Amino acid sequence: MSELPKTYYVTTPIYYVNDAPHIGHAYTTTAGDVLTRWHRQRGEDVWYLTGVDEHGTKVQRAAEAGGVTPQQWVDRLVEESWRPVLDTIDAKNDDFIRTTQDRHMERVQKFWDVVRENGYVFSAPYEGPYCVGCEEFKFPADLVPGTGEFDGEMVCAIHGRPPEQLSEDNWFFQLSAFTQKLIDHYEANPNAIRPQSAYNEVISFLRGGLVDISMSRSSVKWGIPLSWDGSQVVYVWFDALLNYITATGYGSEPGTPEAELFAKVWPANVQLVGKDILRFHAVYWPAMLLAAGLQPPQQVFAHGWLLVGGEKMSKSKLTGISPDLIIDHFGSDAFRYYFMRAIAFGQDGSFSWEDMSARYTSELANGLGNLASRATAMVGKYFEGKLPVDSAPTTVEANIQTLLAETVANADACIDELDFAGAIGHVRAFIEHINGYVTEQEPWVLAKSEETHDRLASVLYTVCESLRAIAVLYNPVMPKAMQNMWVAIGAQEALGEIADQDLTEAGAWGQLPAGVAVTKGASLFPRLVEPEVENS
Ligand code: MSP
Repeated sequence: MSELPKTYYVTTPIYYVNDAPHIGHAYTTTAGDVLTRWHRQRGEDVWYLTGVDEHGTKVQRAAEAGGVTPQQWVDRLVEESWRPVLDTIDAKNDDFIRTTQDRHMERVQKFWDVVRENGYVFSAPYEGPYCVGCEEFKFPADLVPGTGEFDGEMVCAIHGRPPEQLSEDNWFFQLSAFTQKLIDHYEANPNAIRPQSAYNEVISFLRGGLVDISMSRSSVKWGIPLSWDGSQVVYVWFDALLNYITATGYGSEPGTPEAELFAKVWPANVQLVGKDILRFHAVYWPAMLLAAGLQPPQQVFAHGWLLVGGEKMSKSKLTGISPDLIIDHFGSDAFRYYFMRAIAFGQDGSFSWEDMSARYTSELANGLGNLASRATAMVGKYFEGKLPVDSAPTTVEANIQTLLAETVANADACIDELDFAGAIGHVRAFIEHINGYVTEQEPWVLAKSEETHDRLASVLYTVCESLRAIAVLYNPVMPKAMQNMWVAIGAQEALGEIADQDLTEAGAWGQLPAGVAVTKGASLFPRLVEPEVENS
């Protein structure tokens, strides 16, 4: 049988639909979208999955509090908030999984049947502290002393509330059987958990030894029943984690398109998670996969938190900011750019309106936007809107070509490390260089004399050809603005769709042919109109 080419498969966590999305959720989805758009533009076959986590106590209680059934609750939130936010942030996912879909529920049952047949599931009583916010049984070491209303009690370190005491007969997953296998796996594959701090955290947790973990709930009704015991539902995490394979055809009949997709995507290349859910993804999840005879993902990448007042932004703490609030003002491109550029992926960061405004103005509007509008306007004014021939190049232009080739290679290497800020930094440095070049060459002075006409042509050609490469490099980050720039410099007509341009070839000089129609389109990054602050 011939080997199918591996599809580059990226996932986000699936988000709880107990409430509407905030920018913390949009942050992960944006990162995955930039990453997958980049890989698509390398010409790779890509699959990008996101979705929602609809079962469990947290969602059940939110529905009860809202006075509707869980199904009504999730249907409304998914359609009114979670699907639309993908458009809002301009995400280009290939699929959207809901854990209430039949395809998911059937395959979850199938998966646990396999794990049970393989001998890793047994029945036992369980008692312990359970945090509904995390949907997780807690170990004593996970709890911290409470403050304020919970002074004197031990509380969940993430949610700041005391856990509930749960006691029930459960089915267990024999996690302890995988301690050494996982240690061996990670020692042999140090890139399987990134960044390094996350890798170290998981290894030290594994060295402490794994204990068996309950995989079902008898007290919860809103979930997927076990195929062999209808009185219990699958523990929400052991239902949710499976979305990554249920959405891509795990357990499908051989020969079907679903089975073919699964063969091409699995194991996933990158699974993005917030650092709060690292243990689920780098310990429980690969153990489950090994128990079912499947391979662990190639990489789990744990990014940091968006903080508010030094704490993780969250709806339960009423600190969640809606993506709409920011995008209505700055637009989706600036949102994507800002979060990928201002926070090192893997570290925590804070969002500030002032910082975003300042970067928008200096880096986007004045930096790139101005360069594009000046260049296109000058081609209009001095060459009747036709890109001139690069008639008198000098070493200055040759150096730009070298710098561009380096920029492309460096940015591409950063993306391999999921260093979005680094990749953007290289492109930004190139833009600054070109801006400096325009200032030094003074094309408006060259335009005054017929003798320097050829130099003027070279300078404007160089700037437009640089903009061509910048558009390709920035397209995964800011697809809307780069599409506009692409059209303005005549590249659409001459070179076809921007999304079809091979990123790795972006540094090859001279792709934009002389003679194409260059137009001064609408401003790429219009001036911001700050909302009026009411004086009280
Ligand atoms: N439903 C589980 C995940 C199951 S995956 C099989 C869950 N959902 S969640 O909605 O609470 O959070 C999901 C993800 O949202 C986090 O891991 C993280 O990627 C993102 N974020 C939520 N709040 C965040 C911040 N304040 N900052 C950055 N990302 C955050 O956990």
